[in-house]
Amino acid sequence: MRVFTTGGTGLVGSPAVAELLRAGHTVLGLARSDASAAALEAAGAEVLRGGLDDLDVLRSGAARSDAVLHLAFDHAVVTAEDLTRSVAQEGAALHALGEELAGSDRPFVTVSGTPVAPGRPSTEADPLPTDGPVGGRSRSVGAVLALASRGVRSAAVRLPRTVHDRGQGGFAGLLTAAARRTGVAGHPGDGTQRWPAVHALDAAALFRLVLEQAPAGTAWHAVADEGDAVRDIAAVVGRRLGLPVRAVGPEVFGPFGAVFSADQPATSAHTRAVLGWQPRHPGLLEDLEQLRP
Ligand SMILES: NC(=O)c1ccc[n+]([C@@H]2O[C@H](COP(=O)([O-])OP(=O)(O)OC[C@H]3O[C@@H](n4cnc5c(N)ncnc54)[C@H](OP(=O)(O)O)[C@@H]3O)[C@@H](O)[C@H]2O)c1
Repeated sequence: MRVFTTGGTGLVGSPAVAELLRAGHTVLGLARSDASAAALEAAGAEVLRGGLDDLDVLRSGAARSDAVLHLAFDHAVVTAEDLTRSVAQEGAALHALGEELAGSDRPFVTVSGTPVAPGRPSTEADPLPTDGPVGGRSRSVGAVLALASRGVRSAAVRLPRTVHDRGQGGFAGLLTAAARRTGVAGHPGDGTQRWPAVHALDAAALFRLVLEQAPAGTAWHAVADEGDAVRDIAAVVGRRLGLPVRAVGPEVFGPFGAVFSADQPATSAHTRAVLGWQPRHPGLLEDLEQLRP
């Protein structure tokens, strides 16, 4: 398949592009800068110049391809307004891509986070929360899945809180950044709350499987570690960076404070059983051993 890919230079997207190419697919990658275009070309992808706001470019990318993989998100978010803008930008991009694909039966794979199910690991059958600061992202994903009734083989891969590669990325990456900034490897509360995680190379394998196999309107969990206790994550970060480890207030993590405090394990039992996906790369705690002071 020729797969039009947005976000193909990101932490999640770079290994996804490599995985698709390795499996014999071709990739047309959206690039908003010379640096992104060069990275995609070096990876072996074709380049389509433009950004998420360029809806005509997105439509032409989808029109020229057999499938769409959407992974771009503008994470340059400092304020609540920035987040609102990024969420709206992504929603408009997904809508444009979906309208182009309607009636074509082509795969359209997008991304979200795993949901939270109080007291147990969330499953692929649990709904995404549509309230809160990123509720708009969930509504956009829901609109993509609803395209199943309009002739699109739509699917969503739900990523855990941390997608990691060489010790970097996700919530654990933000926790590491806060530790470097404050001089303390802090965990909000007692740190017994659990966050799920996956290695970016394992997530990449699932994006390929979902593009190739997933029935229309389905959601999948790219979860390798069901739930790492946050104090265990902070302990590795502190040891690797030579910093003390202790409980800190949620305000240390700014807009992420509340969500960092929540217990939010997730399972991928259904995804593994149906798609035959099997994570093979190091878990988060092992991968964090690659951190350098
Ligand atoms: N990493 C995680 O732990 C994690 C966890 C859960 C969910 N997710 C979600 O997974 C997706 C991919 O995340 P990631 O970690 O790979 O993000 P990332 O490393 O920040 O990469 C973002 C990608 O989006 C592209 N992009 C950003 N703004 C764009 C714009 N305006 N126009 C075109 N392209 C734009 C970037 O291109 P440039 O090269 O030009 O910057 C880059 O390729 C996102 O939806 C993210 O929210 C990630």
